[in-house]
Amino acid sequence: MGDGSGADGTRHPVHVPVLLHETLQLLSLQPGLVVVDGTVGAGGHAMAIARAIGPGGLLVGLDRDTEILACARAALAKAAEDAPAQARVSLHHSSFSNVQEALHACGQAACDRLLLDLGVSSLQLDRAERGFSFMADGPLDMRMDPHGPLDAASWLAEVSEVELARVLFEYGDERFSRRIARSIVYARERAPIVRTGQLVELIVRATPGHARHGRIHPATRSFQAIRMAVNDELGELRRTLVSALECVRPGGRICVISFHSAEDRIVKYFFREHCEVVTRKPVIATETETDQNPRARSAKLRCGIVKEIAA
Ligand SMILES: C[S@@+](CC[C@H](N)C(=O)[O-])C[C@H]1O[C@@H](n2cnc3c(N)ncnc32)[C@H](O)[C@@H]1O
Repeated sequence: MGDGSGADGTRHPVHVPVLLHETLQLLSLQPGLVVVDGTVGAGGHAMAIARAIGPGGLLVGLDRDTEILACARAALAKAAEDAPAQARVSLHHSSFSNVQEALHACGQAACDRLLLDLGVSSLQLDRAERGFSFMADGPLDMRMDPHGPLDAASWLAEVSEVELARVLFEYGDERFSRRIARSIVYARERAPIVRTGQLVELIVRATPGHARHGRIHPATRSFQAIRMAVNDELGELRRTLVSALECVRPGGRICVISFHSAEDRIVKYFFREHCEVVTRKPVIATETETDQNPRARSAKLRCGIVKEIAA
């Protein structure tokens, strides 16, 4: 699904699953399969999967976000009412790195397909009180799991200047990472940074004048980087891919949609090393899709088949 906000801050429809057609094709779905959607979000991909695997299939959906999971539950229930020939659905409030536990809770030793559609959803970005957006002032939270232990304000209060600059540079490709990190550390010694508005102001002031009016808002990259650090997004992805080798049956497929070059690199090398690669190059959105949903512009879809164990 699109996150509802392009890098330029434009709004667009909320429930638009990214690369839906391409994902369904690569998942190569058949009736009766057990499929895990590790990022069920608002249920866009999940509803299409539940239809494709039919009443004999099982869809296991996970999301870290309880609020979003409630939306997925309502959307999937409505879809099942409208068209009853759908898979059984089991939803779990959990990180996708716990996919094995979720399968066991459903009485399954393994699954046939695993989908991860990474990043945040528009339902998270659109709510200022979740603190993901630089577009509206709110508490500096950014936790995907609203009950998670560490919010962005606490992370920013503790992180060293060197580590902060690294995060901004590596996860945000922020070329002014050191200036921004210095200015945040200087400011937090005077008053805690607890609102998104405060952080935006600091970042804008630390950005040289000539770079303040580019194609994207000057806080875009830093917000993305801090969100990725607070939610340990790359660590979650690495751990999940490793555990997928145990919980996706040999011959089963893993599809990952990523929005960040570091994520795409992790997926690419993982598939190369451990799977039969289906997508030599990542699948990207058509012009028609990106016209309708600007977020699809940075989406990259890769698919790997878990290797059969040699006899
Ligand atoms: C781009 S949205 C997915 C949208 C979904 N495919 C759809 O069609 O509606 C990403 C979702 O993944 C969830 N998420 C991100 N990291 C997660 C993790 N480690 N474990 C579980 N859910 C995660 C977010 O809370 C968000 O709801």
